[in-house]
Amino acid sequence: MPTSILIDTDPGIDDAVALALAAKLATLKIVAITTVHGNTDIERATRNARLVASIAGIDAPIIPGASSPLVREPRPARETHGPEGLGHVIPSQPAEHEIDGAAEAIIAQVRGHHKLTICCLGPLTNLATAIAFAPDIADALGPIFIMGGALGVPGTQTPTSEFNWWSDPEASDFVMHANLDLRIVPLDVTRRIAVPGNAIRALAKAGESDQQARFWADALRFYASFHEEYEHFDGCIVNDALAIALAANPSLAKWEEMRLDVSLSDDERRGAVRRSAAGGYATVAMTVQAHQVLALLEQRVFARWLPPGSLAEGAAGADRWLAAAALRAAAE
Ligand code: BDR
Ligand code: CA
Repeated sequence: MPTSILIDTDPGIDDAVALALAAKLATLKIVAITTVHGNTDIERATRNARLVASIAGIDAPIIPGASSPLVREPRPARETHGPEGLGHVIPSQPAEHEIDGAAEAIIAQVRGHHKLTICCLGPLTNLATAIAFAPDIADALGPIFIMGGALGVPGTQTPTSEFNWWSDPEASDFVMHANLDLRIVPLDVTRRIAVPGNAIRALAKAGESDQQARFWADALRFYASFHEEYEHFDGCIVNDALAIALAANPSLAKWEEMRLDVSLSDDERRGAVRRSAAGGYATVAMTVQAHQVLALLEQRVFARWLPPGSLAEGAAGADRWLAAAALRAAAE
């Protein structure tokens, strides 16, 4: 029987890839998608989730969620995900006002599904709000896969902090201490899941005559320009796709239990995680079989346009980047 899963997301380019992957994994049954501020505003995130769902063939309900973090101002990542949240893709549907119903939807879905799996691909505002409204759902929930945090690699938002947890550190902190079965998928492992530049260029070529290939090429090449400009990396890291792959098959990673806390400071450490004896318990993905994950992504999402093995060089490129980043950190 497939695992019932609720996906909380802020699409977002890698969120879009993650949704498309989830749609194609027979071991997952998407029961609902909730949206959250993060990579873009809630109106665009929700509109984009609907667009990706229609492309990917997802017919689960899509429920708009929080438009801002628990206590801080929203800070959409337009330089990373583009003006509309999907890179160079300009959806024909305008983004419209949305009413937040995500926390209620999460509560209802948890009550309606025994040990529901949740996968959070954006800031944790919706999940924190749901638990705060209905603390009893904590016991009823299944595992919660969370793309967030950075332990030993550079952050995406500051040198120490990953974007999702930087966006709403109070929500991450609340979730960390809510006695949940947390499966954290930090940047340390997601950074290895790279779509190489060559594959994006091949998609763009295919996109000259195929609308869906053009959609992915337009989204991914924007993300790749960001990586090129800020990180000198040829390709793009599809962090969120890994959280979905691991929700479907946790054995693709090696996991370690630890206690973590989240910095609530206003400085560069905002949203940073560190091991701490007083922290909340979590099971954290420490290593990942990146080649298998990339092969899965290639077969399930991009096989119509890319020859087999097209994504394989992504992991090697990402590993070189990570090694160089580690050397730089050691020299500082
Ligand atoms: C995370 O932040 C966003 O840019 C991505 O969608 C991903 O969820 C990576 O730091
Ligand atoms: Ca995301």
